[in-house]
Amino acid sequence: MSDAVFSINGKRKLNGEVTVQGSKNSALPCLTACGLCDRGTCRLKNCPCLSDVHNTIDILEELGARCCYDSSAAVAEVSPETLFGDTIPADMMNRMRSSILFLGSLLCRKGEVHVGYPGGCALGARPIDLHLKAFKKLGVDVEESRGVIHCRIRDKLRPTSVSLICPSVGATENIMLLMAKSDGETVIRNAAREPEIVDLQNFINAMGGNVSGAGTDTIVINGVKSLNGAEFEIMPDRIVAITYMAAAVGCGGRILLRGVNPEHTAMCSSVLRDMGADIKCTDDGICLSMQGRPSAVKKIKTLYYPGFPTDAQPQFMAVSSIAKGTTVFVESIFENRFRHASELNRMGADIDVNQCQATVRGKEGLSGTPVEAFDLRGGAAMVTAGLMADGTTCVSGIEHIERGYVDIASDFKSLGADIDMKIV
Ligand code: EPZ
Repeated sequence: MSDAVFSINGKRKLNGEVTVQGSKNSALPCLTACGLCDRGTCRLKNCPCLSDVHNTIDILEELGARCCYDSSAAVAEVSPETLFGDTIPADMMNRMRSSILFLGSLLCRKGEVHVGYPGGCALGARPIDLHLKAFKKLGVDVEESRGVIHCRIRDKLRPTSVSLICPSVGATENIMLLMAKSDGETVIRNAAREPEIVDLQNFINAMGGNVSGAGTDTIVINGVKSLNGAEFEIMPDRIVAITYMAAAVGCGGRILLRGVNPEHTAMCSSVLRDMGADIKCTDDGICLSMQGRPSAVKKIKTLYYPGFPTDAQPQFMAVSSIAKGTTVFVESIFENRFRHASELNRMGADIDVNQCQATVRGKEGLSGTPVEAFDLRGGAAMVTAGLMADGTTCVSGIEHIERGYVDIASDFKSLGADIDMKIV
């Protein structure tokens, strides 16, 4: 664990404006997709400066690609012509979940790939069975032995229709990457519909691919022979935007979030309006104002997009802990995504967790105390709680938060919060 903490003196309103960073969950698959490129250079703009982005670039360089990242401009350039590797060491794979996407982006280039298992936030088992089952149907031999996944294209990829038993974001992305360069049409049924999937489709097509249907539950991939370097702008991070909107509802005040696509935050905006927020969509982005104590919504159930996003559940639980009334959370995507509840209770919240359900009885307020981030969005929830709490909150485990937020402290500071990173 890093020896840095976020020290927060809470109970200050949030006022001001912030430009929202590029999306982590689009930048990671798009960077991985650069491995598909046969010639030329890929240039990804609005690519956020995050530890997971640097980890992905490390893997591309380990495989032989030439990469450079300009953190001030938030631009990543990848030249994969010298990408010859087919093996990714376990210690690089287990730093994040999206490393599993290198299976799809490398296989048609190399014919065979050997990788360790992915890591990522500890939200449950997080299996990859849907990825591997689809790959086998598409002509890939898969062998798992001693912690290494060995994938080999049998003789050639076999485009066909693949039905996902659940709309897995990662499995959808991996199939798009695997089949982007193939000889025929692949159809993904019950595909994930997240906006980040649309971004990946648009980047593959910018490189000369032929993918359609992203954003719906049916994606059609007409394989092409080769792909060329392209320039592409990553979409704004909808979960970062939603995090800041939720914090403003908990603290009160008026904020403008620039660069956000209101369509991507519609479900969460609807819930925040029910909690008492006034939200207007402007050409610049989203303007949210909140006065007084939020009202509790009765039930929040996480669902696949466009339902309520699981990645916003922890932050909404923090705000619900001071709302007027009781909220029941049902976490239907991951089996272990309530670890932040115990830390909120240490701040004076009244939360009962029972398997995939958490009952939050709103209190008048929270009290600052040292708390720990156990995962990325749980950490964002702890920062949110600290901003709302009386007194000082110290959030440790901030390396989890830095995987998804470029600079959460500076963003909140620019909105008037009293938050600093301190070395303890
Ligand atoms: C992506 O994870 C996101 N990560 C997650 O965001 C997000 O919470 C999740 O999608 C759901 O929206 C990235 O994009 C890097 P899934 P992913 O495959 O692809 C089960 C964040 O905070 N499943 O859609 O791993 C799985 O266990 C992170 O930014 C299988 O059973 O999610 C889960 O219950 C956290 N077998 C459900 O599907 C599989 O082969 C959804 O997982 C794959 C998934």
